[in-house]
Amino acid sequence: MSGMPPPHSNQSVPHPRLVERVQRHLHSPYQRPVAEHTRQAFAQLSMQIDTTKPLILDSGCGVGESTRQLAWQFPDAQVLGIDKSAQRVARQPPLPTNAWVVRAELSDFWRLALAAGWRLQRHYMLYPNPWPKAAQFTRRWHGSPLWPVILALGGRLELRSNWRLYVEEWVQALQVTGITATVEPLRIDAPLTPFERKYWAAGQPLWQCVVG
Ligand SMILES: C[S@@+](CC[C@H](N)C(=O)[O-])C[C@H]1O[C@@H](n2cnc3c(N)ncnc32)[C@H](O)[C@@H]1O
Repeated sequence: MSGMPPPHSNQSVPHPRLVERVQRHLHSPYQRPVAEHTRQAFAQLSMQIDTTKPLILDSGCGVGESTRQLAWQFPDAQVLGIDKSAQRVARQPPLPTNAWVVRAELSDFWRLALAAGWRLQRHYMLYPNPWPKAAQFTRRWHGSPLWPVILALGGRLELRSNWRLYVEEWVQALQVTGITATVEPLRIDAPLTPFERKYWAAGQPLWQCVVG
């Protein structure tokens, strides 16, 4: 897994339809029905946590290493790692009592959380799938119909990526919604996730955007 370069893309600048797409998504709610397995996962998790306490979401948590570290870092919060990969979720480490790692589809989980009135204290998006081809733009979270839902969940939103263009686009999508943000180089002493570890070990520049 070591040494994987930043994704190769046929895009070298932000997607030309970014502003139009983001504006469209801001005005048209995502209607796709919620998958039953995520509805069940959300219901089960809701019974186990106290939503009046601070909530931290680790969206796309993979094996949950970051979920565990964040739970240690924020002992007063409940840290929820969500990932759709059954294989990764099955490899979750032993977790402290304020952490959960759950298999679910984020596009459904986020909508259920918003509808249930959840508001986040912090929201981590650590190395989301880049979907590097220009034609895949709407699969990137900021180009997807889920973007308004992500923003509505609130909290301090932190994105990390080894692909600078993804973070640049994220910043532009935030600007379309009136939020000023910047792309910052990420300097770390210790990696928070397995993907971060492999990029870091390979000496790749890493990028972040933090707002809220
Ligand atoms: C590149 S990996 C990063 C994993 C971890 N955050 C890390 O840094 O090691 C992206 C993760 O997002 C998850 N993911 C992608 N799309 C998802 C979706 N729609 N719903 C839930 N998880 C998703 C994948 O299963 C994968 O584990």
